[in-house]
Amino acid sequence: MRILVTGGLGFIGSHTVVELQNEGFEVVIIDNLSNSSEEVLKGIVAITGKMPILEKLDLREKSSVQDFFKKYQDIKGVIHFAASKAVGESVENPLLYYENNISALIYLLQELEQKQEANFIFSSSCTVYGQAETMPITENASIQIAMSPYGNTKQIGEEIITDVAKVSGINAILLRYFNPIGSHPSAEIGELPIGVPQNLVPFITQTGFGLRDVLSVYGDDYPTADGTAIRDYIHVVDLAKAHVIALQRLVNKKNENKVETFNLGTGKGSSVLEVIHAFEKVSGKKLPYKIVPRREGDITEAYANTDKANKILGWKAKSTLEESIASAWKWEQKIRG
Ligand code: WQD
Repeated sequence: MRILVTGGLGFIGSHTVVELQNEGFEVVIIDNLSNSSEEVLKGIVAITGKMPILEKLDLREKSSVQDFFKKYQDIKGVIHFAASKAVGESVENPLLYYENNISALIYLLQELEQKQEANFIFSSSCTVYGQAETMPITENASIQIAMSPYGNTKQIGEEIITDVAKVSGINAILLRYFNPIGSHPSAEIGELPIGVPQNLVPFITQTGFGLRDVLSVYGDDYPTADGTAIRDYIHVVDLAKAHVIALQRLVNKKNENKVETFNLGTGKGSSVLEVIHAFEKVSGKKLPYKIVPRREGDITEAYANTDKANKILGWKAKSTLEESIASAWKWEQKIRG
């Protein structure tokens, strides 16, 4: 059975391609290589021995999307990762985000709505909750006014999918990720941030390796036990496996609604200092860091209530924070080695 993975050479996309292949799916990747490289294909093949088809195209080109679906009439499901995802960049360049994250989604859905039925998995984010009032966060927590154009594109994307599913053969599952970290245990694929990492864990591993002098901890004056902000750090392989389960749910027509939503996290919150200490424990290195003022737009706390995914998908994140960080550190050493 052939599955389209957009952004399949990216961080979460490549790990999901591996898990799809492990489950016997044939994978077609669409990627414009704007935030990834063809080298990732070698890593995928090194793990599974199977070469996915790669179509290098930009989903912002409507005609390219139309041509793709003319060429591949037998796509049974789409997992849509391709999007810009840097919160800070989205504030500086909102139209880049609205064009890339919304137009591409629309062109994909326009092709899928022409089919009798289509299965669509959407990469969403816990960022749609903003600072939720209650922890842990459930799927029916209120959607807050987006804190960034990036977050807004995820909210708008969910609304577009919901509206289209009502009047078409599209069945969709919206997956709201918490904080994806780590790398495949083989260290054949992992996170490849371009330039200065925006996210905490790649910045930590680069600092640990000596590529960065010091980690800036954005604020220790939050109302938390140690004053630093809390997030739910989930291993990227656990996240990838959830995508395969969600896709199988749709393909096997087990879904109970046209659109279903699931939080994907570990259900455990970890502070920035706890992440630093976990790195120091798994690496045996002292991490140089300094406390600086809070980062604009950051929230205090977010961690998932995972009951729905546990019960309905039969999925649960397995890796601990230390295991996830150890895999990220192994990857950092491999690519810099
Ligand atoms: C985590 C914590 C920072 C860097 C964002 C998006 C989310 C997803 C993941 C795409 C925060 C602190 C960070 C640093 C620090 N994006 N931090 N020093 O902001 O929770 O989530 O990235 O999939 O949708 O919203 O992740 O890793 O940037 O920050 O102190 O150098 O680490 O303040 O408390 P975030 P993050």
